[in-house]
Amino acid sequence: MTERVVDVQSAWRERGLVDDAKYQEMYKASVADPNAFWAEHGKRIDWSTPFTKVKNTSFAPGNVSIKWFEDGKTNVSHNCIDRHLKKRGDQVAIIWEGDDPNEQKHITYRELHREVCRWANVLKNRGVEKGSRVILYLPMVPEAAYAMLACARLGAIHAIVFGGFSPDSLAQRIKGCEAKVVITADEGLRGGRKVPLKANVDEAIKRLDDASVDHVIVVRRTGGSVAMEPGRDVYYDEAAKQVTDDCPAVAVEAEHPLFILYTSGSTGQPKGVVHTTGGYLVYASMTHEYVFDYHEGDIYWCTADVGWVTGHSYIVYGPLANGATTLMFEGIPTYPSNSRFWEVVDKHKVNIFYTAPTAIRSLMGGGEGPVKKTSRKSLRVLGSVGEPINPEAWEWYYKVVGDERCSIVDTWWQTETGGILITPLPGATKLKPGSATRPFFGVQPVMVDAEGKQLEGKCEGNLCIADSWPGQMRTVYGDHERFEQTYFSTYKNLYFTGDGARRDEDGYYWITGRVDDVINVSGHRMGTAEVESSLVAHPKVAEAAVVGYPHNVKGQGIYAYVTLNQGEEGDDALRKELVAWVRKDIGPIASPDLIQFAPGLPKTRSGKIMRRILRKIAEDDFGSLGDTSTLAEPAVVDDLIENRQNRA
Ligand code: WT7
Repeated sequence: MTERVVDVQSAWRERGLVDDAKYQEMYKASVADPNAFWAEHGKRIDWSTPFTKVKNTSFAPGNVSIKWFEDGKTNVSHNCIDRHLKKRGDQVAIIWEGDDPNEQKHITYRELHREVCRWANVLKNRGVEKGSRVILYLPMVPEAAYAMLACARLGAIHAIVFGGFSPDSLAQRIKGCEAKVVITADEGLRGGRKVPLKANVDEAIKRLDDASVDHVIVVRRTGGSVAMEPGRDVYYDEAAKQVTDDCPAVAVEAEHPLFILYTSGSTGQPKGVVHTTGGYLVYASMTHEYVFDYHEGDIYWCTADVGWVTGHSYIVYGPLANGATTLMFEGIPTYPSNSRFWEVVDKHKVNIFYTAPTAIRSLMGGGEGPVKKTSRKSLRVLGSVGEPINPEAWEWYYKVVGDERCSIVDTWWQTETGGILITPLPGATKLKPGSATRPFFGVQPVMVDAEGKQLEGKCEGNLCIADSWPGQMRTVYGDHERFEQTYFSTYKNLYFTGDGARRDEDGYYWITGRVDDVINVSGHRMGTAEVESSLVAHPKVAEAAVVGYPHNVKGQGIYAYVTLNQGEEGDDALRKELVAWVRKDIGPIASPDLIQFAPGLPKTRSGKIMRRILRKIAEDDFGSLGDTSTLAEPAVVDDLIENRQNRA
C-alpha cells in the first residue's frame, strides 16, 4: 500500500509563519544550542525581572531537576491581559458560546482585565495568596477563565477538576493539594442537561473528615437553588460587590507553580502534575502561534474543556498570551443537532478549529449532511488532539469539514508535556493522514526497544524524549520521587512518554497508543488500576481486571473482567449496578463499556494477572494468545474466550 501524502498547499505556504526550509533551520538551531534558541524565544513574554539563565535541567537518575529561566520574574495574568491593553483593549479576548445557541457573550481584553482583577480581590479577601491552592470545579463559562487568571495574578496555584468527576474524585483532589478555596457553580449545563456541581462540592467536603476548605465561591449559572453553608459559602456576584476592580499582578519566579492538574497513570491514584510559570507560558504561547499558524485577528476555537490540559494551554494561556480571540464553548457537538460545531464556526467566523478524533468520529456517524449545510468558509486550520486519529477520520476531517482547503494539524502531546511536542506546521509540513509528523522546536524524540536500546531510522518502539523543553512538568505535587519513578526510571536519562510509536523513512512519527496500563477513552486518560479499585470496592466483587479494547467512536472502550464473591450471580442487572457504581465513584468517563463475569482470571504461578491475554480476548483476537505456558490454570482462558463480550 502506498502511503498518501498531502502536499503543503501554496496558500498554506504563503501564509505560513515558516516554510519547510525555515522549519529545518529553526529545528536544527533549537537542538544544537537550546540556551541560545530559548533565550531568544523566552522574550516573547514580558518579564518584570529579565532572566539571565535559560536552561538548567537534568534527567539523571536520582537527580531529576527541571528549571527554565530560573532567575527571571514574571506574571502570567499580566502577560495574558495587561500587556495587551494598550494595543487591544477593545479587541474581543473571549467569545463565549453557551450550551443554548441563543446565549453568547463577547468579552474584550479591557473587560477581561476588570473581571480578573475583581475575581483576584474576592480571592484575596478570602486569604488566597502566593502559593495557596484553589480548586476550580466549573462548567465552561467565562468565569472559569477569570478564576484561573485571578489565581495566576496572585501567584496562587489552581487545580481544576473536570465537572464530570464525582464527589469522591473531587474530594481526593481537594485533599491532595489541601485547597483552602473551592470555586464552583450552582449547576452546569451541557446538552440541555443540568450537572449538580455545588451539590457535588458539598458531598465532597462532607466526605473529608478534616477538610481544608474554608471558602466555597459559587458562580450563578442556572440560578437553580442550592444549599449554602453560612460562613463558608458565598455567591460570587455578592462577594464581588465588596471589592474594587483594581488588583496589581504579583511578580513571581519563573519556577513558581502556576497550576496542578491531576491525571491518571498506570498505577495508584491520579497524580498532581505541576506546571510552573515562565517556561510553561513561553512554550504554550509559542506552540499556539506556530502550530495553528496564528495570525493577528484570527478567531480561534478549541473545543476542549478547561478541566483538561488542552483547555489550560490552548483555550486560555497560549491564545491569551498571544493576544488572540479565543472561543469558549459550553455545550457538546450534538446539541441541539449534529451541525452545532459548524454553525458556531459560521456564526463567529472561526478560522482555526481544534478538536478531538472522538468528536470527529461521532459526527461522521451522522453523515455529511449536517456539515454540508453550513458554509465553514472562514476555516483555515483544523487541529486534532487526544488520541491517534485514524486515517478515515482524518480524511473526513480534511475533505468533508475542511473542503480540502484547510491544513490539518495532528498534535501529539500530554498533560505532562504542557504543550504540543509532535505536530505538523501548516506552512511547512507535508501531511500523512494518521501521523503526528515531526517534532516541534527543541523537542528530541527518541525511540527505544523494550530493553532500552535506542533505535535508529525507520523503527517501531517506545517513545521517549531525550532532553527538556520549557513546557515540561516539573514534579508530581508533593511527591518528587513518584515523578522520577514514573517518567525517568524506565529508560536512563530519558523522559518516557508511556506511548508506543513508529518512525517511518521520512522521520515521521506515528503514535500507536499507550504501552502502559492507561487507556484512552474519547481522548481522556483513565488508569485501569483506578477502575479496578472502584470495582473491587463493590460488596459483591472479589477481583477485577480492566483493559482497553478498540471502540469505533471512543477510540478505546473499557472492558472489565469481574470475579464475584462466592454465591453471587453475574447477570445484566448486576452489570448495570456495577456500571452505575463506577460512574458514581469516579465519574461517567470511567464507565465500563463491557463487563465479563469470570470465574477466574489468568494468572502466573506467582499470582500476577496476565493482562496481555485479557487484552487479546477483549480485542476478540484470541487466535494468537502468545506464550501461555506460565499460566497457573490454563483452563481459565477457555472460559474467558467462551464468554467474551466483544464479538465481531
Ligand atoms: C495521551 C495523553 C494532550 C492533551 C490531551 C490528552 C494520547 C494525545 C495524541 C495524538 C496520538 C495522542 C497519547 C498521550 N494522545 N494526543 N495527536 N495522537 N495520541 O492529554 O490526557 O495527558 O493524554 O493522549 O497516548 O500519551 P492526556
